[in-house]
Amino acid sequence: MALEIKITQTQKGRIAIVTGANNGIGFETTKGLAKVGYKVIMACRNIEKAFSARDRILKEIPNADLDIFQLDLSDLESVKEFAQGFSKKYKKLNVLVNNAGVMTYSDQKNGEGIELQFATNHLGHFALTSLLIDIMPNDEQSRIISYSSVAHKSASIHFDDIECKNAKGYGAAYGQSKLACLMFGDELNRRLKKSESKILSLSVHPGVSDTGLFNDMSWIQSFLFKVLGSFITHSNEKAAIPALYVVLSNDVRGGDYYGPTGMGGLKGKLGVSKRSEYSKDELIAKKLWDLSEELSRIEFNL
Ligand SMILES: NC(=O)c1ccc[n+]([C@@H]2O[C@H](COP(=O)([O-])OP(=O)(O)OC[C@H]3O[C@@H](n4cnc5c(N)ncnc54)[C@H](OP(=O)(O)O)[C@@H]3O)[C@@H](O)[C@H]2O)c1
Repeated sequence: MALEIKITQTQKGRIAIVTGANNGIGFETTKGLAKVGYKVIMACRNIEKAFSARDRILKEIPNADLDIFQLDLSDLESVKEFAQGFSKKYKKLNVLVNNAGVMTYSDQKNGEGIELQFATNHLGHFALTSLLIDIMPNDEQSRIISYSSVAHKSASIHFDDIECKNAKGYGAAYGQSKLACLMFGDELNRRLKKSESKILSLSVHPGVSDTGLFNDMSWIQSFLFKVLGSFITHSNEKAAIPALYVVLSNDVRGGDYYGPTGMGGLKGKLGVSKRSEYSKDELIAKKLWDLSEELSRIEFNL
């Protein structure tokens, strides 16, 4: 049976943050949530791009309730400033969509010398979640969404080599960062349950869609991606469905992992996604949590 998003009650008065809302899948997720009445905070690193994205949404949905905040997830000071500014203005948060992401084909680091994909995709969202979770109402409609990828399946966490300098395989650091997002989502769910919180931590992957994520590819990679594109990708709108589903559905449970299920997860019908055996390892997830607290210098209140 196909999974459908059924809206049973108005979402007015509810607030969602979407990180990386100005482009690709985050843009479509913002539109989807605005359409059903959410106030959506567009948390973007580039304010000009954010305003331009907001204008495009308002053309399509004139009554969309949108606000813009600057956020650079690779910079923990920016994450703290964002969380403080948001909490001061809004006081409560219903949904946090940890969507933003970067994929690099060259060695890049953040200002603290941490591998850029791990710092942005995982650590930034880890810190952001820890700083906002206390203003989320204690009910099952409060949701934190982590963004993984089919790329997590061949990855592991290189605790002694977070840069993945010695890791075998192409895109090891990106895969590691997306595995970290999934394992964080699972560990967060376990800790929420243990503390008897009703807030749900859920994970998704979008399949594959042609977004800014692939901007750093070499010309040959870009060429192959364009040639194969129509076979292996689906639209950004379709790629946003898993996140919209887990935010809006009443049929999900904490710890669920959803995404497209056709062609090895690249596109197709929405469903419960397959995850690697490695990603289920609770000891590794705990070790990752401890490392994330250490690197972000943030103690999670869970
Ligand atoms: N597209 C796919 O096929 C695919 C597959 C698997 C998983 N995903 C995941 O889906 C999510 C959305 O990616 P997308 O495909 O929509 O890519 P995208 O079009 O490149 O969008 C990524 C968004 O993240 C933002 N971002 C990047 N670095 C940031 C930082 N340091 N601080 C704040 N925001 C930052 C980007 O901002 P700028 O516009 O300023 O760069 C952009 O708004 C990511 O988590 C990605 O890993 C995508």
